[in-house]
Amino acid sequence: MVIYLGRQRIMRRFIPLSIPNFEGNEKKYVNDALEQGWVSTGGAYITKLEKMLADFLHTENVAACQSGTSAIHLSLVEAGVKPGDVVLVPPLTFIAAVNPVRYQFARPVFIDCDDSFCMDPEKFRQFCEEECRFSEGILLYEGSPVKAVIVVHVFGNMADMESIMDIAESYNLRVVEDATEALGTYYTEGRYTGRYAGTIGHFGAYSFNGNKIITTGGGGAVTAGAGIVDHIRYLSTQAKDDPHYYIHHEVGYNYRMTNLQAALGVAQMEELPEFVRRKRRNYELYEKEFEDFGLAELLPFRDGTCSNKWFYSLEINRDKISASMREIITLLEQEGIQTRAIWGLINEQRPYEGEITYKLEKAPYYASRILNIPSSTQIMKDEIRFVSDKVKQVLRELAID
Ligand SMILES: Cc1ncc(COP(=O)(O)O)c(C=O)c1O
Repeated sequence: MVIYLGRQRIMRRFIPLSIPNFEGNEKKYVNDALEQGWVSTGGAYITKLEKMLADFLHTENVAACQSGTSAIHLSLVEAGVKPGDVVLVPPLTFIAAVNPVRYQFARPVFIDCDDSFCMDPEKFRQFCEEECRFSEGILLYEGSPVKAVIVVHVFGNMADMESIMDIAESYNLRVVEDATEALGTYYTEGRYTGRYAGTIGHFGAYSFNGNKIITTGGGGAVTAGAGIVDHIRYLSTQAKDDPHYYIHHEVGYNYRMTNLQAALGVAQMEELPEFVRRKRRNYELYEKEFEDFGLAELLPFRDGTCSNKWFYSLEINRDKISASMREIITLLEQEGIQTRAIWGLINEQRPYEGEITYKLEKAPYYASRILNIPSSTQIMKDEIRFVSDKVKQVLRELAID
C-alpha cells in the first residue's frame, strides 16, 4: 500500500484479505454500457452475463439479479415458502443466507455443520426423522410444514450434496444451494461428477459482491429449472406483464441486475478461470508454509470436489493458544495483514435469539477457532510467505508454554 504524508510517498506493506481484481476488460465494457446509455435493468450485457454463467455452469437457465441475498429470497418465494413455514438453515455462515427466511415470515431451524462447515447431512436426517412427522407428503415440525433447506457451500467448499438431496427428496423438501462463495467449485467423484455448486439442488444462488471470486460491485444470480428461472426473472422486474401498459398480476421485486453491473460481470467472467487457477495455486503455497506447524492448521476442502478455494481457513490450536480472535487479528493488523474471524453463530445474533437449534457442536467449535487469511487473486508469492511468517510469529508469541 502507498501512503502519502504531505508530498512524501511512503511505502508500507498492507496485505488485504480479499479485494477485487480488475485486470481485464472491466473499464472497456462499463464505458461501452455508459456510451450506449443502457445503465439500468435492460441491456445486452445482462443477457450476455446470464449466457456466460449458464455456459460456465453447464446449465440452461440463469437469471441475473441485484445480490446474492435477493437470489436466495427469490428462490424461497419460488419454493413456496410462506409465513409460518419452517426452513432448515446453517448456523455458521453469513447472516444473509438466513435473513430471506424472515423476509417470508417463515421460521428458521438451525442444523449443525460438518467439518467442511457445510450442513451435516446426518444431523439433517436425524432432525427430519426424530423431530418431525411426515404426513401425506408433508414434513411437519411442531405442526408447521418444513418447506425447504438452505445449504451453504461455505468458503468455496461443497456440502455433501448426494446425502442432502436423498434426504430432501424423501421428505419432499426444496433445496436452495447458497453457492454465493462457491462459483467454480464442482464434484470430481460420485453421482454428481462434473456438476457445479449451485446446479444440483432445486435452486442455486450466487453473489458477485466485492469480495467474491468475481464481482459486479453488488450483484447475484439464480439458477433453477427452465420455467422457474423465467418466473424468477419476471418477479425480479416488478412482475411487469407488459412492457408498455403496466399490467401486473403478482407482487414483484426490484431485484434485477443492471446493465452497468452486468458489463463489469461479463469482463469478470472472462477472467474467472484465471482467478480460480490463482486461488488454487495460492492455497497450495500456503499449504506448504503451514505444513507441520503445530499451532494452526490450514484446513482442506472436501475430497471428491475441485474447489474454487475462495477463502482459506486456518484452524487455531486451542490447546496451545487461548488468546481471543480479536487479539490475534489486531496483532496481525499491526503487521499490515488483514485477517478475519469466521462468523459469529447466526442463532446467537439478536434477531435469531431463541430460535430452534439442532445438535450444534461443530459450529460453535469452529466459530472460536477459524481465522481467514489473505486470499486475493493478486497476492504475490513473497506476500504469502510474509503473511505465513507473521501469522506463525504472532501465534508463537501467544502460545501457552
Ligand atoms: C454465504 C453467503 N450467503 C449470502 C451472501 C449474500 O450475498 P450478497 O452480499 O450478494 O447479497 C453472501 C455474501 O455476501 C454469503 O457469503
